[in-house]
Amino acid sequence: MSQTCDVVVLLSGTGSNLQALIDSTRTGDSPVRIAAVISNRSDAYGLQRARDAGIDTRSLDHKAFEGREAFDSALIELIDAFHPKLVVLAGFMRILSADFVRHYEGRLLNIHPSLLPKYKGMHTHQRALEASDSEHGCSVHFVTEELDGGPLVVQAVVPVESDDSAQTLAQRVHTQEHKIYPLAVRWFAEGRLILGEQGALLDGQLLAASGHLIRT
Ligand code: GAR
Repeated sequence: MSQTCDVVVLLSGTGSNLQALIDSTRTGDSPVRIAAVISNRSDAYGLQRARDAGIDTRSLDHKAFEGREAFDSALIELIDAFHPKLVVLAGFMRILSADFVRHYEGRLLNIHPSLLPKYKGMHTHQRALEASDSEHGCSVHFVTEELDGGPLVVQAVVPVESDDSAQTLAQRVHTQEHKIYPLAVRWFAEGRLILGEQGALLDGQLLAASGHLIRT
């Protein structure tokens, strides 16, 4: 088996994606070890999930800092104390500075609830419904300086049903998030997934612009 890959997870909310990652590390043969979970909100439920799993937690309140750069540099210090090989954004609702993104270049993953490049930003499910899209979904990507814009690793496509509300659609997308994020993190941990000059590479092959596509 490959060496253990220490991961730090950043989140701001309920942490269902964190839970999926925790569950995926319990298979016995997982190379992933979640070294710490860090939140900008001390009341984030994701921190409780981490504590319940015996994982180290930290919180760092962005409101206590003068500006994004100051917060991000304190965050870097906090993260790097755990020496992670990979940093995973799991519902971390902060825009990151260019310095932060550059510091973790090639080892920073994000999950987003849309089929990127569609619907960067917020309210993705509502926007997919308003556009009468027949398909929606979620994406895991390497983070670059462009918001929700880095090379795609994996996408899960979810059909939109005629009676879907934003809530029902969000639920089905969430279920897929919980599958594709552990998959992408495991690929990275196994050394199969890397960020090359031209995009994301899986097993040495440049992935398509959409990343690895999973249809549900
Ligand atoms: C997830 O749906 C994730 O895709 C989204 O936040 C949610 C967090 O849920 N992330 C973004 O919108 C980032 N732009 P969770 O706390 O239950 O994992």
